[in-house]
Amino acid sequence: MYVDKQKDLAGKLRSAGIVPVLVLEDVDTGLKLCETLQRAGLRTAEITFRTKAAAQIIEAAKKRFPDFLLGAGTVLNRDHLNQAFDLGAAFAVAPGFNPALVKLAADRDYAFSPGIATPSEVEQAHELGVRLFKFFPAEALGGVAMLKNIIAPYRHLGLSFMPTGGVTAANFADYLAVPEIVSVGGTWLGRADDLKAGNWDKIEKDAKAAMEALKRIRG
Ligand code: 3PG
Repeated sequence: MYVDKQKDLAGKLRSAGIVPVLVLEDVDTGLKLCETLQRAGLRTAEITFRTKAAAQIIEAAKKRFPDFLLGAGTVLNRDHLNQAFDLGAAFAVAPGFNPALVKLAADRDYAFSPGIATPSEVEQAHELGVRLFKFFPAEALGGVAMLKNIIAPYRHLGLSFMPTGGVTAANFADYLAVPEIVSVGGTWLGRADDLKAGNWDKIEKDAKAAMEALKRIRG
C-alpha cells in the first residue's frame, strides 16, 4: 500500500537524518560520491533528475551499494518516476505537488513524496494518500517557523515532513527538533562546485561534520 510504503520510508529517513541532494554529471563521480558519503556515515542520498546521467547513476549506485538508501529527486514526470523505481530507487521526491504523479505512485505503491509549500497542498496531497511530504523551498518559505505552523492543524493525522531548500549545517538542528520532521535535505553536502574542483577531502570532512552534529542532536 502507498501509505505503508511512505510510513516505512519515513522510519528509514528518520534513522538516516540527513539526505544529501546530489546534482551529478557522470557515473564515476556519482559512485565515488556515494562511497565517500557512506564512509562518512551517511545512509542515504537523493540523486536528482537535473542531469542526463541521473538514471545511469541510480542504476549503477544501486548495484554497487545495495544497502545505501538511494532516492531519486527532481522527479518531474511519469518517465522519471517509473524509471527511478524500475532502476531500484528506494524512494522518489519532487519539488512540487503534481497530482498525476501522486496518483501514479499510489497505483504502483511507489514511495514517492511530493513537495508542498502551503496547507492547501498538504490537504490535496493527503486526500490522494500522501503521508510524507517534502517541504520546499523551506528557508525561503519561512523556515522552521513556517513549517511548524503548517503542521499544527494536521498534527493528529500523524504526517511526516522532510524540508529542503536553504537547509544547511547552520540551521538543520532547528528543523530536526520538530517531531514531525523526519529528515533534512540539501545540496550543502556533495556540493557541485566541490565535485567539479575534485575537493574530495573537503566533501568527506563536511559529511563527517554533519554526521557528528546529527549524533549530538539525536543522540
Ligand atoms: C532540493 O531539490 O531539495 C533543493 O534543490 C535543495 O536546495 P538547496 O540547494 O538550497 O540545498
